[in-house]
Amino acid sequence: MVNKKIRRPIIAGNWKMFKTHLKGVKLVQEINYGLDKDLDAEVVVIPPFTALRSVKTVIEADEMKIKLGAQNMHYMSEGPFTGEISPVMLKALNVEYVIIGHSERRQYFDETDELINKKLKKALDVNINPILCVGEPLKIRELGRQKQYVREQLNNCLEGLNKDYIQNIVIAYEPIWAIGTGKTATPEDADFMISFIRQRISRLFSPIISEKIRIQYGGSVKPFNVVPIMVQPEIDGVLVGGASLNAQDFISIINYKKRLKK
Ligand code: PGA
Repeated sequence: MVNKKIRRPIIAGNWKMFKTHLKGVKLVQEINYGLDKDLDAEVVVIPPFTALRSVKTVIEADEMKIKLGAQNMHYMSEGPFTGEISPVMLKALNVEYVIIGHSERRQYFDETDELINKKLKKALDVNINPILCVGEPLKIRELGRQKQYVREQLNNCLEGLNKDYIQNIVIAYEPIWAIGTGKTATPEDADFMISFIRQRISRLFSPIISEKIRIQYGGSVKPFNVVPIMVQPEIDGVLVGGASLNAQDFISIINYKKRLKK
């Protein structure tokens, strides 16, 4: 029996290619202002690279509880890779999380499971917590083959990962047809897929690890649908795109528990 209580909820906002560093600073200040004092979830903002330093500066200066993540990284520490960002550079900025294998990177930048596997290993090596994204495209969903598809992604992406560090990974189940489309998986369906992912982690690593690892849902999460998603037994958090760009919307998602009590 899975015990959700041992897993701290994680609510992350992926800003994608939005917000200059100045707008990013304003946004993180507004988010911080609206946070519940007794918040028990982990909150992560994930700005573009150019805003990381500025956002981190205000997080530190105001002693915010908000954590910082990056949207991507290279799998090498340094080298002649024009235009790339090293995980060591991210670590030097006190970046704590990094998204690996977002569907937009897979789709528009041809990232393969093999590459994602290398990035995961490297992120764990330098002690940055990866948020690994998995999820099926619409065609696969229509064929009812989403379990097989996600199983394959997990097998390939997690291959050879060190058992001792695996629980530092957060997995985000993001069905591609739900990203930026306004369509969400039903909460029950998202929970079913996340439960399936947890079973796979149990098989690939161990039942104890599968109980500890946090698995988020992502895809058109908004203030109005976050509560039914977050009350599902297997869902440990949300990865939010569009709605994380607006402070009021993101705050309302983070503070979902307030609405639970009513
Ligand atoms: P969305 O994006 O919330 O805008 O659908 C989610 C994501 O891409 O992580």
